[in-house]
Amino acid sequence: MNVSPDETPNRLKLFVDTVGCQMNILDSELVIAKLRAQGYELTTDPLLADTILFNTCSVRQHAEDKIYSALGRVKKIKQRRPNVAIGVLGCMAQKDQDEILKRAPFVDIVVGPGQLSKVPELLEKARAEKKPQMAVSKARYGGSKLEIVESFEEFDPIREQAMRMSPYQAFVRIMMGCDKFCTYCVVPATRGPEQSRDPLDIIEETKLLVDQGVSEITLLGQTVNSYKYTTTDGRQWRLSDLLLALDGIPDLRRIKFITSFPKDMTDDLLQAVRDIPKVFRYIHVPAQSGCDEMLKRMKRLYTVAQYDEMMARIHETIPGCAVSSDFIVGFCGESEEAFEKTVRLVERSRFKNSFIFKYSPRRGTKAHDLYPDDIPEETKKRRNNDLLAVQNAISMEDNLALVGNTFEVLVEGPSKSFQGDVDTATGPVQLTGRTMTDRICIFDGNPRLIGSYMNVKVVSVTGVSLFSEVVTDRVSHVKPAQWSLPVIS
Ligand code: 5AD
Ligand code: SF4
Repeated sequence: MNVSPDETPNRLKLFVDTVGCQMNILDSELVIAKLRAQGYELTTDPLLADTILFNTCSVRQHAEDKIYSALGRVKKIKQRRPNVAIGVLGCMAQKDQDEILKRAPFVDIVVGPGQLSKVPELLEKARAEKKPQMAVSKARYGGSKLEIVESFEEFDPIREQAMRMSPYQAFVRIMMGCDKFCTYCVVPATRGPEQSRDPLDIIEETKLLVDQGVSEITLLGQTVNSYKYTTTDGRQWRLSDLLLALDGIPDLRRIKFITSFPKDMTDDLLQAVRDIPKVFRYIHVPAQSGCDEMLKRMKRLYTVAQYDEMMARIHETIPGCAVSSDFIVGFCGESEEAFEKTVRLVERSRFKNSFIFKYSPRRGTKAHDLYPDDIPEETKKRRNNDLLAVQNAISMEDNLALVGNTFEVLVEGPSKSFQGDVDTATGPVQLTGRTMTDRICIFDGNPRLIGSYMNVKVVSVTGVSLFSEVVTDRVSHVKPAQWSLPVIS
């Protein structure tokens, strides 16, 4: 039987739809935790919700289009049940502000990523005053540096176990914002100035997560390797120092960090990745293009030769390190020769995988104002497919070389293709877990293994996944909460 929200007046029902990056997933988790503390209850059915929130992304037009069309659907819910509160949160809220209310006047709250702590009070106010509420941060040139920084609030302390996608894994934000101002990118405008968080807060937050059963954390920052902080005792912290401090948390087993900026890939960091066994041997460090002219237009602050030199340093320092990258194809003025240079870069870099995007002009960015979006959509599509094919062939080749090898994985949960309920499954199900080089393994196993670490042997591969078998004589059934017991690895 469906319970209508009217029958449970004390528990407002909340539906949250999140698009975009890991930062957004974390932001949604924090907003949900805060609303639950105020008596809200999550629902997976928007038709049952009293409050519908969209946490949005602005990085490409496509992500925005998806939200505007979802808002079109939600309008019908609002017409039937006018008391339902609708919210637009995140980067699109910061970027479009009033325009959202013009295009979707039935929206009740518009809240930028730097104002998310205000969501509960704004929802209340919108309900009480029956008019839309907006909280956005200052524009990047809308005041003094301090005023702008202060308008992007830190919103990280509360963590609620029940809200994470996995009880064993968690994101931990170590930096907010970005100061690189790549000419195509809207992030410095939507997420504000670069600010590193106090390492002592990060360590405390991680300890809390570990107490809740988390054994793997992913440190998040737009340019995570630019992390720097001076504590009150005058000590300067870099990402390498933070990794070392986190390594000291006994029941924390794995630490990953994303996303790195090529120019800030210092030797101390690479040595930390090499020397600290808890740190993934995996670096996500977007190149964006393999052509100097394009990199200059993108204002990426490095040349192709410098990127190559960085790749060489990564592999010299950390044997077996996996590297992944992002690319934008069809950026303004990208000739066929320029694109071919990107293909060459992918060929010689042998990335584990690459995320490839067609250039999408963003209002408010330098590229939007300075350069015409002159590459036809068809050409962008073809270059996207061609580059992906080159990358996939490399991934396949490198994965084939792993057949027969055994890796330790954290069993994350059922694989994407598993249909059904793991809690009631009787026999083995298809499970998924990642290696310390961030490779995805797929294997059959008992759902009880979820959350534990075990060894799997690679049997066959695609460019994306390693199909594996559980190495039965070396299984660790130990769950994170019981890690005082020895773990066989
Ligand atoms: N168009 C296309 N892709 C973009 N990215 C950032 N801005 C744009 C844009 N305007 C890509 C970059 C970045 C990733 C998160 O999104 O490759 O690394
Ligand atoms: Fe955007 Fe460049 Fe900052 Fe990455 S480094 S978030 S691409 S401005």
